[in-house]
Amino acid sequence: KMESTISITVVGASGDLAKKKIFPALFALFYEDCLPEHFTVFGYARSKMTDEELRNTISKTLTCRIDKRENCSGKMDHFLQRCFYHSGQYDSEENFSDLDNKLTEKEAGKLPNRLFYLSIPPNIFVDVVRCASLRASSASGWTRVIVEKPFGRDAESSGELTRCLKQYLAEDQIFRIDHYLGKEIVENLSVLRFSNLVFEPLWSRNYIRNVQFIFSEDFGTEGRGGYFDNYGIIRDIMQNHLLQILTLFAMETPVTLDAEDIRNEKVKVLRSMRPVVLDDVTVGQYKGHTKGGKSYPAYTDDPTVPKGSLTPTFAAAALFIDNARWDGVPFLMKAGKALHTKRAEIRVQFRHVPGNLYKRNFGTDLGKATNELVLRLQPDEAIYLKINNKVPGLGMRLDRSDLNLLYKTRYSKEIPDAYERLLLDAMEGEHRLFIRSDELDAAWALFTPLLKELEEKKIAPELYPYGSRGPVGAHYLAAKHNVRWGDLS
Ligand code: BG6
Repeated sequence: KMESTISITVVGASGDLAKKKIFPALFALFYEDCLPEHFTVFGYARSKMTDEELRNTISKTLTCRIDKRENCSGKMDHFLQRCFYHSGQYDSEENFSDLDNKLTEKEAGKLPNRLFYLSIPPNIFVDVVRCASLRASSASGWTRVIVEKPFGRDAESSGELTRCLKQYLAEDQIFRIDHYLGKEIVENLSVLRFSNLVFEPLWSRNYIRNVQFIFSEDFGTEGRGGYFDNYGIIRDIMQNHLLQILTLFAMETPVTLDAEDIRNEKVKVLRSMRPVVLDDVTVGQYKGHTKGGKSYPAYTDDPTVPKGSLTPTFAAAALFIDNARWDGVPFLMKAGKALHTKRAEIRVQFRHVPGNLYKRNFGTDLGKATNELVLRLQPDEAIYLKINNKVPGLGMRLDRSDLNLLYKTRYSKEIPDAYERLLLDAMEGEHRLFIRSDELDAAWALFTPLLKELEEKKIAPELYPYGSRGPVGAHYLAAKHNVRWGDLS
């Protein structure tokens, strides 16, 4: 039997994502012996660079995951020797055919498999896919393409992108990445729900009052304003990362754990949702702020952001799933940059205990202290359940305590970066954590009318100071739905 080889071409190799995430993830996979024996990594970009120069650049961002492990720098050298660079234009068939020759040379005598990672802006996706002489996958090796968001700006542009990609690629060759799906706690959502008896029976409108998906960063767009201004926080975080988590949270039990079964269930959730309306949304933008003698810039101070930009850097929204399980339950999302903390979490607020026994007998009012399940994606992965508990002693006093599973104290192994899992899955042809085209269409259908209305009506975002907890509009929105944000109470 012929041995196989994988060549991984990172198109857009000089970009930030490639340097910060893709090359380090590939090295981590190599380090953990997850790459096949025969592999090569090619960087492709416009700038002129030698193989050596590429190796130098990426060596700066590679880290040995478990410090002081012997052999690390040896492994790093070994990995770097398999990295090459090819400079070319993104719309040049000739440049890509030169790359093809180099790949073919390295594949000699082996079954050739090729993975292309398009770490480039979407307006050049199609050029690359057209020029990159991508073969159909066959018995003599596969060709797969990973694409990074943004997948368009709205339903139309996304649909157009999909149609163009499909001229050159079959759906099973396309891997639409959403790196939040590679995060450990997100992977664990299904395990929590479907392999424990105690959660799933509560997982519905009968016991859950509301669910919150919260993303906050404690830094602004710093240098990425040019990209960001064209998209805004709703496209950057909500329509993809938070919505993906929501669908996994809310879906019905899939028939199996196969990619198609899971993605079928996710699409059903999206199709049961109402498009988001302006009344159920609030938008914000950070303004400059001075704290402790240090001054923080406004979003519009970023030189790459057009003056007077109305692009939201913060948004909160209420979404609804009109199916039997979730009818009437608000799913709240909140996402913002330049806030007081960096955190991503899911908060599940349960209903009140009926018949307040402890109030009647002991005057202890549990008030709003209902159970809350928190899944913290980052930092410090954790799952905890807020419960009412008796304070030890002779009296009868209750307080709120946590049943707490903190990953770093429970598990000693370091948690892999999301990109490692996703790259590995793509190499194995596993689509479970990638987005199918109908899923993408359904996701855009929910947000496109709102995005258009925000732009057409030139809705001014509420300004909030850099480093604050965000605009008060988010509280009004929550209150309108009888909700208090769990991260603020
Ligand atoms: C990206 C967004 O998809 O996710 C960025 O474009 C954001 O704006 C990033 O900073 C957050 O990812 P993580 O994994 O650092 O939470």
